[in-house]
Amino acid sequence: MGNDTFREESNKAFETAKLTSYWLYLAGIPEAIEYGKLIGLEDGVDPEVIPYSKDMCFLNPIIHEIRYTSVNYYVRNSGCKNVLDIACGYSPRGMQLAKEGYHYVGADLPVVADELEPIARKAGLDNLEYVGADATNYESLKAAADKLDGPICIVVEGLGMYLTKAEAATVRDNIARIMSEHEGSTYITPDPGNGYLFFDCITANYPPERMREVFGMLFTMYNWASNGGITMETDKRPLEEDAKMFKESGLDAKMSPLRPDNPQLLSFSKLAPEVTAKIREALMHPFTFVSTLSPDYVVKEGNDNDFNIESNIEGDTLFVKVSGRLDVLSSPKLLECFESNKEKVKEVEVDCKGLTYLSSSGNRVFHLIRKELSDPDKLRVINLSEELEKQSQDDEIIQHM
Ligand SMILES: C[S@@+](CC[C@H](N)C(=O)[O-])C[C@H]1O[C@@H](n2cnc3c(N)ncnc32)[C@H](O)[C@@H]1O
Repeated sequence: MGNDTFREESNKAFETAKLTSYWLYLAGIPEAIEYGKLIGLEDGVDPEVIPYSKDMCFLNPIIHEIRYTSVNYYVRNSGCKNVLDIACGYSPRGMQLAKEGYHYVGADLPVVADELEPIARKAGLDNLEYVGADATNYESLKAAADKLDGPICIVVEGLGMYLTKAEAATVRDNIARIMSEHEGSTYITPDPGNGYLFFDCITANYPPERMREVFGMLFTMYNWASNGGITMETDKRPLEEDAKMFKESGLDAKMSPLRPDNPQLLSFSKLAPEVTAKIREALMHPFTFVSTLSPDYVVKEGNDNDFNIESNIEGDTLFVKVSGRLDVLSSPKLLECFESNKEKVKEVEVDCKGLTYLSSSGNRVFHLIRKELSDPDKLRVINLSEELEKQSQDDEIIQHM
């Protein structure tokens, strides 16, 4: 496996990002068509291989046009001239906002950012940048944010369904900490309301007896696209519960309508008037979270970037010691260590005594190693703290769903 492949194998969510951009392209959003050409979308996505292609290519452009334009609406109303788009994927937002004069930094996994940065240079937009970062890793997000001077409009769109509860809390803590360092910043995310948005768009377009079936199709399709990388966190839970979790991170979240200006969307041109009427109603639902930093915010530390790995071979066993954070940025190093030694060994022992953080991508690497060893018991993960053990078990349940 090459370096990029290690990164891709341990971070599966990035494949769905191309699909997200494809839905906007199918919706006919002009900048998505222009950006689609720059990133080679037409060659990169084959609609024939998308599960339930006909329904998916009909429903998703509507849902994603609503979500994308809602976030843009709130960015333009934030008063900030800086945008930090966390988990930006292949969204055309950066190119569009940079053309409008915003300083836009897209922060995504290094494998995505490395692909997009040369494209931004080719587009000739100096105020459009892409940076490799892990949303759960404060240091990497801070480095991205510090490219921007003054208040920032921080955006997270479409990341929630790839995070466990613990990871989502870390991302919120990191965002609050960055907001405390860039006074006057705003945080916009439609993610807590995703379940509702999907529900509304399905009920507007399908009869009640098909609801379960269409939700099943969506779940299958996203699981396919992310190779099993999605969690079950994006359900239809009361949004007040999310607002409380935001508060615990030091964020005052206001639940705002998807599109208070209730615009004529491009997708409407393909829909019957009674369907567009239902979607218009949905546009007024308060599913977007617009947050400011709480006046009583207190910084939560301890989320620093300090991964270390050591290994040696004794007999037919590979002994690995990991310490610090095993997250999206560092887990490819563990996979690389295994891949480059696997021909010489039959067993692997990973000593996690010094591990302070274990993300789902770290757990994913343990899965990959188990899969490659002839017997899953030949991977021993030892000295995991009780807290990380519990998180890891929750994560496993999610990965097997
Ligand atoms: C469904 S896409 C959404 C992309 C984009 N925001 C949009 O709306 O088009 C999810 C994105 O999250 C990124 N991602 C997943 N885990 C991440 C993490 N821990 N840190 C940063 N980005 C992450 C993936 O690489 C992918 O680009």
